[in-house]
Amino acid sequence: MNKTAIVTGASSGIGRAICEELLDMDYEIYGIGRDFSDAGSLLDNSAFHKVELDLLDTPNLENAVREIVKGETLDLLVNCAGVAYYGLADEISSGHISEMVRTNLEIPIRLSSLLLKKLKERQGTILNIASVTANQSNPHGAAYGATKAGLLSFSRSLFDEVRKHGVKVTTILPDMTDTNLYRNADFETSKEENARLLPEDIAEAVRYILESDPHLVITEFTVRPQFHRIEKKRSVSDMI
Ligand SMILES: NC(=O)c1ccc[n+]([C@@H]2O[C@H](COP(=O)([O-])OP(=O)(O)OC[C@H]3O[C@@H](n4cnc5c(N)ncnc54)[C@H](OP(=O)(O)O)[C@@H]3O)[C@@H](O)[C@H]2O)c1
Repeated sequence: MNKTAIVTGASSGIGRAICEELLDMDYEIYGIGRDFSDAGSLLDNSAFHKVELDLLDTPNLENAVREIVKGETLDLLVNCAGVAYYGLADEISSGHISEMVRTNLEIPIRLSSLLLKKLKERQGTILNIASVTANQSNPHGAAYGATKAGLLSFSRSLFDEVRKHGVKVTTILPDMTDTNLYRNADFETSKEENARLLPEDIAEAVRYILESDPHLVITEFTVRPQFHRIEKKRSVSDMI
């Protein structure tokens, strides 16, 4: 029997790469996102089921997830969806704060809570995609970093609650990865190969974690590029 996974943030970046890896590992996937126009070959695979919804529409999300798991088994929940807004703490808008806290922290907690019963039945796994920002000071990104630190804290406590049921909980903490996450920032990942991560690097970490010997649990997994470089985005006026 194929294993079944629910993956948020499946429509792009790290989540999409994780879905590709999971399909290669013969998972049946319910991938959640709002806009799958960039999802490429994922949509051609019959084991991938696109679930188009806004995670912040909580009643709709919870109904959809209940429908997905009704009468089905569930082996894996990947909480990958996330948003990032940057700026000094007194400049960031309340709407952006709320979107980050809800998407990056509240929704992973709600989905874990909703799906734990199913995951216990299969001794399944929760993978939470946090960030290296969870473990460091983040000037100009304090609110984003706080949501990721919150997710890390939740994952640690959750593991202590559910380990006796055979459920595994892993937090992955990626450093800067070349995706669209920085669309709202004035900086971006380096173009240099050894100074940035690719979404596929995080997907490989997922495979490593899931294929580890079942008697052990990798509770935290940090992935960094060899070199540390951040590039300031060029504005239109820089280019003229
Ligand atoms: N890129 C990095 O450097 C980096 C580093 C550390 C951690 N991370 C984390 O990795 C995760 C994935 O980000 P990414 O880098 O792959 O960026 P991305 O390409 O922008 O992907 C973000 C994903 O989240 C989904 N999403 C956001 N808000 C949503 C909502 N309200 N409803 C439904 N889906 C929503 C997006 O779906 P739609 O576009 O379809 O709405 C998209 O699939 C995030 O949690 C991020 O914080 C990224």
